[in-house]
Amino acid sequence: MEIIVMNRRIRSPLARVIAAGNPPRLLILAAIVVALFDVAATLAFPVLTRDLIDHLGTTGTGAALTSPQLVLLVCVLVGGALCGAASAYMLARAGLSILHRTQRRLFESVADRPVAFFDGQESGALVSRITGDTRVIAQLLTNGISGLVTGSLLLVGSVVVLALLDGPLTAMIFAIVIGTFVLMVPMVMRLAAINKAINGHTADVGAALTRVFSGIRLVKAFTAEPMERDRIAAHLAHGELAGRRLAKVQATLSPANGLAITAALILLFTYGTARVAAGTLSAGTLTAFILYIFNIIAPLIHLSRFISQYRMAQGAAEPLADLLQAPTPSRAVATPVRWSSTDAGDLVLEDVRFGYGDDPVLTVDRLVIPAGARTAIVGASGSGKSTLLALLERFYAPQHGRILCGGVDISQIDLTVWRQAIGYVPQTPTLVSGTIRDNIVYGAHDIDEPRLLAAAAAANCLEFVDRLPGGLDAAVGENGVLLSGGQRQRIALARLFYRDPVILLLDEATASLDEANGQLVMQSFQRLMEGRTTVIVTHQLGMLRDLDRLYTVVGGRLVETDLGATRPVVRETLAAAS
Ligand SMILES: Nc1ncnc2c1ncn2[C@@H]1O[C@H](COP(=O)(O)OP(=O)(O)OP(=O)(O)O)[C@@H](O)[C@H]1O
Ligand SMILES: [Mg+2]
Repeated sequence: MEIIVMNRRIRSPLARVIAAGNPPRLLILAAIVVALFDVAATLAFPVLTRDLIDHLGTTGTGAALTSPQLVLLVCVLVGGALCGAASAYMLARAGLSILHRTQRRLFESVADRPVAFFDGQESGALVSRITGDTRVIAQLLTNGISGLVTGSLLLVGSVVVLALLDGPLTAMIFAIVIGTFVLMVPMVMRLAAINKAINGHTADVGAALTRVFSGIRLVKAFTAEPMERDRIAAHLAHGELAGRRLAKVQATLSPANGLAITAALILLFTYGTARVAAGTLSAGTLTAFILYIFNIIAPLIHLSRFISQYRMAQGAAEPLADLLQAPTPSRAVATPVRWSSTDAGDLVLEDVRFGYGDDPVLTVDRLVIPAGARTAIVGASGSGKSTLLALLERFYAPQHGRILCGGVDISQIDLTVWRQAIGYVPQTPTLVSGTIRDNIVYGAHDIDEPRLLAAAAAANCLEFVDRLPGGLDAAVGENGVLLSGGQRQRIALARLFYRDPVILLLDEATASLDEANGQLVMQSFQRLMEGRTTVIVTHQLGMLRDLDRLYTVVGGRLVETDLGATRPVVRETLAAAS
């Protein structure tokens, strides 16, 4: 175990991301082996052409058409092409498999992160990393590696065959080609650096666009379109600049290649024809040489592309490897204690201190939330009420102290088991794109239709659901944009009724409801809260009825308020309001 941990530490980011993609090694190996047949065919083709030409020289065109040399040449070419196609398909499949496994692992790892991680992230940039950067690595593992292997073999094979055919000619071509390659390498390195910058700009544009589209009403209401247009234009301009640099390098790369090939060809022709005239070289061998030049150039291009892909993959792997890292130890419980929702007892906070950064937000010396009873938390805005619920939900872990449930430290309970015991209605309810039904049963494995209807009725949803075309199957839009605020809140409450948990955490759960709806939902709540541990954060007096305990947050500290003294006050206020 320790050795594995050690290994992980020393492995490069790229190696870690590749391991996450679990490359189908056999498939890649098979693709390379099949590609080797293509390489062999490519290597044999010029020699076979030489034989055909030299044969043609002695027999004439008519006989050549039926000659075994031509039949062999055609077979080798067709066979090579078929192998090339098969290898390309296998590589494409391997690439897809690597891409999807890496993306799945990334999503799993990222989704597993604690809430604090997401507080510091731009979702658009995360999306761009998971969908875009992964492609660079899949490309390297498939086309990159196969290009490198087949290219190197083609290169070495060509040089060997050429040397066997004619030593001096080989030396001449080789010098030109290697010279060109050496000149090309710095350009290729530049290419990789520019590509990395372009990926960064793409992520920035992704993040900016996501921000604008997800907050489009704010953008429009505050007529911020020109401002956002300028910001995005700036990101795009940076991308364009990098793109231009890329174009410049690419534009010089191809003519440089072309020039090298032309130079090699001219030299070859001049020197070669002189030798053919002198009778020291056959016309066939000269043709074979000309064809081999392409066999040498193509692998060098593959090789330089591989270097560029490797550098790009190295750049892309760094942030991905960070994202893949296991969740922080405070979140993952190595050996969770045996606990089920039936063990839920009093919730007790002991000496808890918590702050999002260095500044303390909440200090609790001792707080008891009795099991099966109703506890309300009140306090000024920003005093830390939602933070307390977030600690109970285990979105964050306190820096100091313990939270116990029935005497068990909740940080030692399996997180899934713990959260399944809780029904949480956040201050701003989140709806998922989909139907009302999808939203009410969200997170549940099975759908129980009668329970779904009962939950919708208890949260007073049916009143508006029945009026919607499609009823429970009506779409809610992105984050419930097609519904009213109160309707969204009622769906969030229905979710709670459907989940039927032992602990209820309600953060201003009825704040957007009007008096009538609020009353109806409150009645259902009274039934739901029966026998459940309930923590209510509210500013509404209506929610403070039939309380067992009341805490007030003052200056980041929780102070128990004597209900005996407050109850008459609350009652009086309620009586006055009705
Ligand atoms: N995710 C976060 N990261 C950093 N600071 C935060 C975060 N959430 C809240 N805070 C800060 O913590 C403090 C307490 O916030 P909290 O949301 O708990 O207040 P609250 O009592 O629920 O207020 P309200 O009644 O307005 O909902 C605030 O000063 C806020 O700025
Ligand atoms: Mg709050």
